[in-house]
Amino acid sequence: MEYLGAHLAFKSRWHKTDEELCRHSMSFVLHKAIRTDFFESYLYLLERYPLVKLYALTSEVIDGEMQFYARARNFYRDVSATEEGMMGDFSDLSNTDIEFSSEFLRKFIGGPGKAGTYFALDCGAGIGRVSKHVLLPVFSNIELVDMMEPFLEEAQNYLEEESDRVETLYCYCLQDFTPAIRKYDVIWMQWVSGYLTDKDLLEFLLRCKNGLKANGVIILKDNVARQGCILDPTDSSVIRDIHILRNIIEKSGMNILAEERQPGFPELCVPIWMIAMQ
Ligand SMILES: C[S@@+](CC[C@H](N)C(=O)[O-])C[C@H]1O[C@@H](n2cnc3c(N)ncnc32)[C@H](O)[C@@H]1O
Repeated sequence: MEYLGAHLAFKSRWHKTDEELCRHSMSFVLHKAIRTDFFESYLYLLERYPLVKLYALTSEVIDGEMQFYARARNFYRDVSATEEGMMGDFSDLSNTDIEFSSEFLRKFIGGPGKAGTYFALDCGAGIGRVSKHVLLPVFSNIELVDMMEPFLEEAQNYLEEESDRVETLYCYCLQDFTPAIRKYDVIWMQWVSGYLTDKDLLEFLLRCKNGLKANGVIILKDNVARQGCILDPTDSSVIRDIHILRNIIEKSGMNILAEERQPGFPELCVPIWMIAMQ
C-alpha cells in the first residue's frame, strides 16, 4: 500500500517509460528493478528523515499547481486585512515584535559601512504592519510585495498619509518575484519565509541579494523550530530549525551578520528569530 502511494506520487516521472517501453524487453525488466529499488530506498528515507517527508509534502503538484502554495493562498483568502489577521492569535504581541525589530534594525543602518536609509522592501508585507511601524520611521521610501491583493489594497488606508512614501505595491508571490537590481538598502522578510519551499527560498534570497545596494542588508524574521522542520497544515507553511535556515543562507553565498531571538513572547510560542545577512 505504502509502495503504491509512493508510486502514485512519482507517477508523472515514470509515466513515459511505463507507456513506451516494450513490456518484454530487457530495458523494461531493468527499469522495473531500478524502480523497485528506488521506492524501497525512498520509503526508507521517508520514514527516517523528516526532511524527506517534508519534500514529499511540499512538492505535490495537481493540474500543474503546487499544492503547498495553493493551500497557503486558500488559507489567506479567509484572513482579515487587519493587524489581527497578520498576527494570527497573537495581535497583543505586535508592539513587542515591533520594538525588538526596530532595535535590531538600528544595528545595521546609518553609519560608515552600514546600510543607507533611502529605500526598503517589505516582503510578504500583508497590510504593511512592519512597513508602518518599523520601516517607514527609518526609510525615505519603501515598497511592499505580497501575494494577496486585498491586503495591499488595505495597506493604502492602513499606512495613512505615510502611503505617499510607498513607491510601488507589488502583488506577486515571492517565488515569482524579482526585486530590482541594486535598489534597496534593506530587504525585510517577516513571517513569510516558511511559505516558500527550501528551493524557492534559496532562489528568492539569491534574487534579493542582487537587489541590495552596497552595504545593504536582508533581515529575515520568522518562527524557528526547536528541532527539525515542522509542516503546519493549517496555513501550509514550514517552520525550519535554525540549522536548516543557516544552511539555506550559506548556500545563497551570504554571510550572517547577526542573529537574535525575539524576547518577550510567551514560552509556549514557537521561538522567533531575527537574522541579518548580506
Ligand atoms: C503572517 S502574515 C505576515 C505579514 C507581515 N509580514 C507582518 O509581519 O505583519 C504572512 C503574509 O505573507 C503573505 N504570503 C504568504 N505566502 C506568500 C508568498 N508565497 N508570496 C508572497 N506573499 C506570501 C501572506 O499573504 C501574508 O500577508
